[in-house]
Amino acid sequence: MLVAPSILTADFTNLASEIDKISTADYIHLDIMDGHFVPNISFGPHISRKISKLSKIDLDVHLMVTDPLFWIEQFAFSSTRYITIHEEANQVSETIKKIKEQGIKVGISIKPNTSVYRIVPLLKEVDLVLVMTVEPGFGGQSFMENMMVKVKELVKLRNEKKLNYIIEVDGGISDKTIDLCKSSGVDMVVAGSYVFNHEDAKKAIESLK
Ligand code: DX5
Ligand code: ZN
Repeated sequence: MLVAPSILTADFTNLASEIDKISTADYIHLDIMDGHFVPNISFGPHISRKISKLSKIDLDVHLMVTDPLFWIEQFAFSSTRYITIHEEANQVSETIKKIKEQGIKVGISIKPNTSVYRIVPLLKEVDLVLVMTVEPGFGGQSFMENMMVKVKELVKLRNEKKLNYIIEVDGGISDKTIDLCKSSGVDMVVAGSYVFNHEDAKKAIESLK
């Protein structure tokens, strides 16, 4: 299992040591919130650039913004591996094209109330599908088990259409919910509060792999 701790729950007054704590992870997940697409504001390109410089591992950028097209170049750091936008945002096709122009892998995400069938036409364009297992906007929420139905649909579609996108889930992931993710076919998990509130972040990451 690929593990991407979400820096949203970290202690931003000690960013360097917080990033060091998660050096055994596969990616660092950056939750970018614009206060419009979701009812919260997190951080922007400036702090994200600082994180990209402090981190030895690549970035998994999760854009929870209404107009992602405007922001792509500002998050296109050398260590940005994935930029994920939401199906519910504006100008999705133009933005996918823009991300690819930066040489960065494309992710598409769906909120809990959005059906997998809304993204079927996009599946051949993307490298990653992010199934939200909480309503986006905050860390520390409870895992929505019923979202695993979508994961199983995406595994089936991937086989039928001979595609190779990876399936990521985000929200409420911990040692209590990881087995259900594994048995449903998830490839990559985001974990914020479970990792950063754990007395040993590296142990927490290991428990999810
Ligand atoms: C929520 C974010 C998640 C969140 C995960 O909108 O997209 O990445 O930070 O935090 P936990 O793991 O605490 O649910
Ligand atoms: Zn996220």
